[in-house]
Amino acid sequence: MTALATVPARDAAEAVSTRSHLIYFSSTSENTKRFVQKLGRDAARIPLHAKDAPLLALEPFVLVLPTYGGTNGEGSVPKQVIRFLNNPQNRELIRGVIGAGNTNFADNYCMAGDIIAAKCGVPHLYKFELMGTPEDVDRVNQGLEKFWTLLSQKQK
Ligand SMILES: Cc1cc2nc3c(=O)[nH]c(=O)nc-3n(C[C@H](O)[C@H](O)[C@H](O)COP(=O)(O)O)c2cc1C
Repeated sequence: MTALATVPARDAAEAVSTRSHLIYFSSTSENTKRFVQKLGRDAARIPLHAKDAPLLALEPFVLVLPTYGGTNGEGSVPKQVIRFLNNPQNRELIRGVIGAGNTNFADNYCMAGDIIAAKCGVPHLYKFELMGTPEDVDRVNQGLEKFWTLLSQKQK
């Protein structure tokens, strides 16, 4: 009989580090990914699968995340984002949130952004629907410029 112990255990995937100031989550429907691509900024994606190498932030960042609703907002934050923010270094470096969602969800529109903003004590900077409009893209790009400038001035 083949000894199972001889099969090498698969090592836990090593973290992939990023210096991007924009970090996002997007599910397989990839609406958020398409929005982020339209911004034309360097951005890093939080991995979809638990077996993927986790992402480690090395610089302050703004998080873009869609809401996947549950009851009363519970379960609204994708589990991949919870896992990412459970890393103390990532939690330390988050500076703001941009929420993606769909206004059909009425009161729960972009609720995950509200939850992360409250839990991490950072501003919910902007909300947009699905893959965003050209106006959303312009407003977010201008807003991010101002946001990072103001933040760097505060640190001086
Ligand atoms: C099962 C399901 C639940 C959702 N729940 C919410 C919700 O509670 N609030 C909201 O604003 N959008 C909700 N949405 C809309 C998504 O946030 C929206 O489609 C988003 O663009 C998905 O981004 P992604 O394709 O990058 O994953 C939901 C979508 C699905 C499929």
